[in-house]
Amino acid sequence: PLTNLSLIGALMKSEHINHTFLDSVLSGEQVDSYYHLGITSDDPLIEKMRELKAVIMGGSGTRINEFARSWSSEHEDAEIHRFPKEDRFVIRYTAGVLFVSHGMGMPSASIAVQEVMRLVYFIHRGSLDRISEVFWARVGTSGGVGVPSGTIVVTTEALMPDLKPYRVFDGGKGTTWFESSFPVETAEAIVKANGEEEIPITVGKTVATNEFFLEQFRLDGAIVLANLDRKMEWLTWLSENNVRNIEMEGAMFAGYLNYWGFRSFAMVCTTMLNRLEGDQVTATASQLQAFNERSGTVIFNYLRTII
Ligand code: URA
Repeated sequence: PLTNLSLIGALMKSEHINHTFLDSVLSGEQVDSYYHLGITSDDPLIEKMRELKAVIMGGSGTRINEFARSWSSEHEDAEIHRFPKEDRFVIRYTAGVLFVSHGMGMPSASIAVQEVMRLVYFIHRGSLDRISEVFWARVGTSGGVGVPSGTIVVTTEALMPDLKPYRVFDGGKGTTWFESSFPVETAEAIVKANGEEEIPITVGKTVATNEFFLEQFRLDGAIVLANLDRKMEWLTWLSENNVRNIEMEGAMFAGYLNYWGFRSFAMVCTTMLNRLEGDQVTATASQLQAFNERSGTVIFNYLRTII
């Protein structure tokens, strides 16, 4: 009979995992080069990461460094393992958590997500039970839709600017669509873990765009396609459809993690401005820092409940 653990593992969509390639790496037939991460599957770092329980991603490398330092200091100054290459992504492993920067936008972040998924598969030796237990989060910044700046949005579903899920052009089939939802229980647990904090926090849908200016209907870019009426029409449509914020990675992030069948992942973003009121980020540097710190606080409060 299946144990509880193997039932959980069985929820991973094994048929969506690239076993042909990944299992040949596991069996030692070939070495995987996680090229953008700067390590290979025969790197001694792999052995240090066997207790991996969570992957925390964010746009900026500086932030990732701060996260790793603070998680390490909470865990008796656990050693921080630095990945050697830093010209694309900054990566640190400490006390069961891999902290990874992903740059800006889905083209950049999708590279980080795919290579880290491969790495997680290898670290946990292809065990779907263990892989499925890894918690993933993106901690980011965003533009709010009808919520004041500094609000934390925990995403329930991440869609593209046409409110349809993430999709990619795929030579074989035309277009492949990806499931856009985030696990409800995880979003609820994150809000619960922050019940004591005086941080404005809401759950809602997120729109992920491929462009900061044009696809977010900004009127302050070097190039402008929308006008004020069209912009307000789009933002109002988002708001009526329970979208609470706009950023540039969430639809791909949810799409790829759902594709493998991960069951526990989240996106926690702070809002830097309310897009119903303007396009430019005008908050002061210290306000922005305070807003940013909130999303870190929120994810750390949750991490402490699971690790
Ligand atoms: N990030 C975005 O993608 N959009 C904003 O408006 C702010 C941060």
